[in-house]
Amino acid sequence: MSQMNTAAGAPVPAYLEKNYWWAYVRPSAVRFWDRPWLINLILFGKYRTLRDKVLHEFGHAISGKTLQISCCYGELTPRLFECVKKGRGTLDVVDVLPVQLENLKRKLPKDSSVQTFPMDAALLDFPDALYEQVLVFFLLHEVPQEYREKIMREALRVLKPGGKIIIADYGAPSCFHPLRYLLLPLLGRLEPTARELWNRELNRILPNEMRAHTWRKTSYFGGLYQMLVSTG
Ligand SMILES: C[S@@+](CC[C@H](N)C(=O)[O-])C[C@H]1O[C@@H](n2cnc3c(N)ncnc32)[C@H](O)[C@@H]1O
Repeated sequence: MSQMNTAAGAPVPAYLEKNYWWAYVRPSAVRFWDRPWLINLILFGKYRTLRDKVLHEFGHAISGKTLQISCCYGELTPRLFECVKKGRGTLDVVDVLPVQLENLKRKLPKDSSVQTFPMDAALLDFPDALYEQVLVFFLLHEVPQEYREKIMREALRVLKPGGKIIIADYGAPSCFHPLRYLLLPLLGRLEPTARELWNRELNRILPNEMRAHTWRKTSYFGGLYQMLVSTG
């Protein structure tokens, strides 16, 4: 796994610089992309639906410790923080790019208690079973298989037994889904590791990591998107 370092010294995975310099790494990219309407457009109008489903699934007053693994554009994290605040819980967010964490802080209230950690999701510096809730929002399609496996192992390691983990990401749309032929070839050039999720179920991509848990899956937009929930 070759890596480069940011000015802050955090190792940036090579795939991130190679595939996503234009989306996440450069400060100008962050300024350009972090617009809810643009993210909604990229997710074919389904960003708001997915964001709201995730919030609904966690509930609107979340207690205990919540971990969001990697930042995302749009208002999901500020809204998640509102739910956590209502439930008197805490919210931690990790991301391997300091520029993303800085951007997130700008979207949160000045006095917010959200803690941010510049960390690789494949190697979380947290003890086992620390969190009651873990969220992985549209990260797994962006990472190579070896990272996917490590990220999932880490996400489940830091989750308390009986805690809730939510994964929202691309799914495998049916052969008849028109976007499979019209747009996915183009999107696949921009997001090369996403193709695996368009073609196989996540529990077949990550059989060893996922088999110890029971997963409830909900599909959206003809299967192009999915939300997986497990409580053990
Ligand atoms: C969650 S994904 C994108 C979500 C979706 N495109 C959106 O904005 O709604 C993007 C984030 O993942 C982060 N990321 C990618 N690989 C990572 C890793 N190994 N560890 C931690 N963060 C990572 C990137 O730095 C970026 O901030």
